[in-house]
Amino acid sequence: MKRFIAGAIFATVLAGTGFAHANTVATGKALYMAHCSGCHRANGAGGVHFGKAVSANLRAPGLETTYHHSTKLLVRAILDARDEDGDRLDQPMPAWKGRLTKVQALDIIAYLKTLHS
Ligand code: HEC
Repeated sequence: MKRFIAGAIFATVLAGTGFAHANTVATGKALYMAHCSGCHRANGAGGVHFGKAVSANLRAPGLETTYHHSTKLLVRAILDARDEDGDRLDQPMPAWKGRLTKVQALDIIAYLKTLHS
């Protein structure tokens, strides 16, 4: 228990220094490479055809603009496969709820913001 509290305090201190951000991006990159790069390409450019659907370009600033710079809408796009208007994104984009947590979706978004077209 003591160790847990020490860890929590350490994490809080790190969060204030910017280390936590770098950590988030690294985690997001690992998650992206494992789950998303197969369809959206390693560089996030997308453009892979699946029948009539084409995987989206996930690089900044285009993606953020599409979702009105709303992190909430971006999280929904990843977890619920809903576009900016709330409609179902085209298959085969999966809804990641149940396979990724909200925190993991946020890590991926932090990573996507480091990719620029
Ligand atoms: C099986 C292929 C596939 C996988 C795996 C996949 N995607 Fe997609 N994704 C797509 C396709 C196809 C679209 C385009 C859907 C559309 O245009 O309606 C898309 C669309 C999106 C969009 C919407 C972008 C926009 O411009 O509206 C986001 C965000 C997204 N994907 C994020 C992810 C993330 C993050 C992962 C990994 C956790 C992931 N995708 C994994 C196929 C995939």
